[in-house]
Amino acid sequence: MRLIIVLSVFLCIGCKSENKKEVPPEITDQETTVEEKELYAEDHRNQFHFSPPVNWMNDPNGMVYFDGEYHLFYQYHPESNVWGPMHWGHAISTDLVHWEHLPIALYPDDLGYIFSGSAVIDWKNTSGFSKNGNPPMVAIFTHHDPKGEKSGSNNFQSQSIAYSLDKGRTWKKYEANPVIPNSQNIKDFRDPKVIWDKDRNQWLMVLAAGDHVKFYSSKNLKKWTYLSDFGRDLGAHGGLWECPDFFPMKVENSAVEKWVLLQSINPGTPNGGSGTQYFIGEFDGKEFTVDPDFAKYLRRGKGVWLDQGRDNYAGVTWSDIPEEDGRRLFMGWMSNWDYAQVVPTEKWRSAMTLPRQLILVGDNIGYRLRSRTIKELEELRTDDGIVLDNIIISDSINVDIDPSMLEINLNLDTENTKATACWIELSNDLGEKLDIYMNFGDQSIMIDRTKSGKTAFSDKFPSRISGLLGIEKLIREVTIYLDHSSSEVFVNRGLCTMTNVHFPTRPYNTLKLKSIGGITVMNVFSATKLKSIW
Ligand code: FRU
Repeated sequence: MRLIIVLSVFLCIGCKSENKKEVPPEITDQETTVEEKELYAEDHRNQFHFSPPVNWMNDPNGMVYFDGEYHLFYQYHPESNVWGPMHWGHAISTDLVHWEHLPIALYPDDLGYIFSGSAVIDWKNTSGFSKNGNPPMVAIFTHHDPKGEKSGSNNFQSQSIAYSLDKGRTWKKYEANPVIPNSQNIKDFRDPKVIWDKDRNQWLMVLAAGDHVKFYSSKNLKKWTYLSDFGRDLGAHGGLWECPDFFPMKVENSAVEKWVLLQSINPGTPNGGSGTQYFIGEFDGKEFTVDPDFAKYLRRGKGVWLDQGRDNYAGVTWSDIPEEDGRRLFMGWMSNWDYAQVVPTEKWRSAMTLPRQLILVGDNIGYRLRSRTIKELEELRTDDGIVLDNIIISDSINVDIDPSMLEINLNLDTENTKATACWIELSNDLGEKLDIYMNFGDQSIMIDRTKSGKTAFSDKFPSRISGLLGIEKLIREVTIYLDHSSSEVFVNRGLCTMTNVHFPTRPYNTLKLKSIGGITVMNVFSATKLKSIW
């Protein structure tokens, strides 16, 4: 697909002033056309992950499915490659793999910048926004007033709504915004995620408020009633709670339903900086209570993490996935506030994770979320690849494949493996390398990016990042997606997930399997070259 991008829509004419009036997403005479292929051939540009054509992106927003299209909105600064006045950028996909860029959906206005939030399809027209019989797409987001922030007040964030009657192409803000003003003067009061609570025939909102979340309900998306607070004394609290998500989920292979709260926090993760913890429990229409089995892992200060890598933040799930599909689909921002604004890319900054399916598993030890990549990604596989059966690694094996865009699947023979550790080493001719370790002593995964290439842009970047399996004892199978500047590692069908970015000066061109302290036996190791989506 060779789409021509009209860059002018990303230039946001007129948004220099912080309290500018809304600018319609029109194409102006400052048009510059650039071939998408060229733009996406820049250094470090990921080839099968979403990233904006140019400029700064952070959180995914308003992810919603409607009429054959998956919408991805995102925090976007159209004038710079660092964070600034936030807009909602917009892209759509029919398969969650290939993306088409659309004009900016929401611009800052008199109430402020457009911070993170969600979108829903108002099937019953509870909001009354529909005029043409089509259900409105309604965005619920935070207005962040930079003037209020500068003046030292604490009520500069409030919640607002906007709607679209043409499949998200054009948007109108509700004239009575904000729908939840900040009457309690809560300094960090943001990132509303709304779902339809079908059991109670109402909308439900979860909102981040500093060190906890607040729940609200509504009949029409305009008037909201406060329900309860959650989390002040549970989970990790080393930073701000941001970008929550809240939804019911059936336990895999069971009729049991639980409620899941995803909770991003920055900083405060075990490996440093931003990350996403989660909670599993019951919701009675008013209050969320963590399951007793799960609560024992959650003494204050301790979290259970959705992804133990350093670069999966602010992720939430898609709304309105059709029932016949039934998946809970997730995507996160593949960066970390510790260094996001200084990573060594120029025209663009940061990509999203691959879309993932969240699966709730449970047994007598407790409930956990698994994250799995989705079957749609199989479209990306080429015929170019390598399959090695029954390999014994006693020291080092060179795998004859260019590792720049790969899907790796390996299955360990846990009985015959005697090594203390086995690792995959990606390297280039400059001696830069990224190592993905499987440590068999404590059954942990460790990514070493200390010598991965460009690392000096932030002293918080070079790190050894480790993750534990949690409720399973042995590392058995590992899937890895390697793009130009990211690795996503899924262990034991996604029970442990590690997402991390890296920036080699030149692409890695060698892949080795290594073992130490004895042999590592793999039933199978396969590596498949993947296609670019751009
Ligand atoms: C998370 C976040 C959100 C906020 C947005 C602003 O990365 O800080 O809490 O809405 O980014 O861009």
